[in-house]
Amino acid sequence: MHFAPSLVALVSTLPYLVSAAPARIYGRTVSSADILVYTFADVLEQLEATFYTQALAKFQDTDFTSAGFSSSQIAIEQFTSIQIDESTHSSVLQAAIKSFGASPVTSCKFNFDSALTDVATMAATARVVEAVGVGAYLGGATLLDDPVLLDSAASILTVEARHQTILNVLSSSGTAIPAAFDIALSPSEVLALAGPFFDGPCDLGVPANPALSLTNTGSVGPGTQLSFSSPAITSSNDTSKFFCQMLIGGAFASIPLPFDNCVVPSGINGPVAIFVTSDGQPLVNNVRDRATTQLVAGPAMAFIDTQPQMLGQLARVGSASGTDGTSTSTATISPAQASAIVSSAGSTTAESASATATASSSSSTDSAAPAASSSAVLSASAPEVPGTPNTFVGPNADGSINVQGWSNLSSSSSSASPATSSAASAADTGSVSGY
Ligand SMILES: *[C@@H]1O[C@H](CO)[C@@H](O)[C@H](O)[C@H]1NC(C)=O
Ligand SMILES: *[C@@H]1O[C@H](CO)[C@@H](O)[C@H](O)[C@H]1NC(C)=O
Repeated sequence: MHFAPSLVALVSTLPYLVSAAPARIYGRTVSSADILVYTFADVLEQLEATFYTQALAKFQDTDFTSAGFSSSQIAIEQFTSIQIDESTHSSVLQAAIKSFGASPVTSCKFNFDSALTDVATMAATARVVEAVGVGAYLGGATLLDDPVLLDSAASILTVEARHQTILNVLSSSGTAIPAAFDIALSPSEVLALAGPFFDGPCDLGVPANPALSLTNTGSVGPGTQLSFSSPAITSSNDTSKFFCQMLIGGAFASIPLPFDNCVVPSGINGPVAIFVTSDGQPLVNNVRDRATTQLVAGPAMAFIDTQPQMLGQLARVGSASGTDGTSTSTATISPAQASAIVSSAGSTTAESASATATASSSSSTDSAAPAASSSAVLSASAPEVPGTPNTFVGPNADGSINVQGWSNLSSSSSSASPATSSAASAADTGSVSGY
């Protein structure tokens, strides 16, 4: 018989052990499914913690500023905070696993060379990693037997979701909270996504789905035809019979499209899990009932950013997106970076990038509208001189928003600070404050 203290209890009681009476905890046996989920979650936390530790050790202030951040500390502060969370999650999960009478798996090694080539690639990878983390905890909820452990795991899930939002904002192209629902993933699906970062064997007793990666190098948005690579798809396969399946949070089932004409539909914003199947039957959106019999590979996780927000631009200098767009070294990551290009037409450097985006999605008529409207909003918020505050005052390109650019606090009149008056007018009239 082992105690199953909740994670919260493990963390929070430690400082009070001396003075407080012991908390009353019910004793029970922990199921093998519970141990598996916790072990699996811990390895994922180890992966995340290692990733952020290596990223913070490798990149210097100048790497962050050349990636487009107006201050390196804006990014470093957030990445450090996330790294501490992941490392704490791992320690506490391992303590819990030991309290179950089991041993944590600490033999898995990781290799992030492909993701740590530059800050933009690292940040885009982090965004995918957090989406996988959210999906893993959500999918794990289905498998846990003990509601107390479910509660504890959920207390980690909510924090992973906050990381996701911060990384969406830091991406500059993303929507802070892109959708009303997230995507749950099964352990085999998580392993398909995490597998490329394992350095050597990492046996968690769960089979991994075959990995799937996007091979698009240009911009990806509505109308873009996606191409893939996977060890499970070779020239001997008749891909005309395969389907790509796009799964978004909250949908009843995936959107099936012919593999050889897998075009991103309009109306998507944020993370998409993409599977390849050998028939066109949609995949149901729950990890318990999702059929795997026709699965060929995947999922791959992509971000389709069609609704960039002002908040992301605040952390960036005006010309940053061009830098981002050129660093799409990992196929899985390219959608996030690519849409950064789409979203930032208007500044001088982004105009050429925008041309690239148009060329690569030329088959699309759908892509024109969202790209145009988002660039209209953002072009007015880009400063004339990169790295300086935007002093532009006036209507944006399509006249839908009135931009009130930066002004110094000291130059304000006695009535109200510019920040206050901008916020007030934004609320009243729909205008927004530039930076
Ligand atoms: C793809 O081709 C390989 C090698 O011929 C084969 O083993 C595999 O079953 C094929 N996959 C599908 C889904 O037909
Ligand atoms: C804001 O203050 C700085 C430093 O005092 C000054 O150089 C700049 O011209 C001011 N900008 C505006 C818009 O007043």
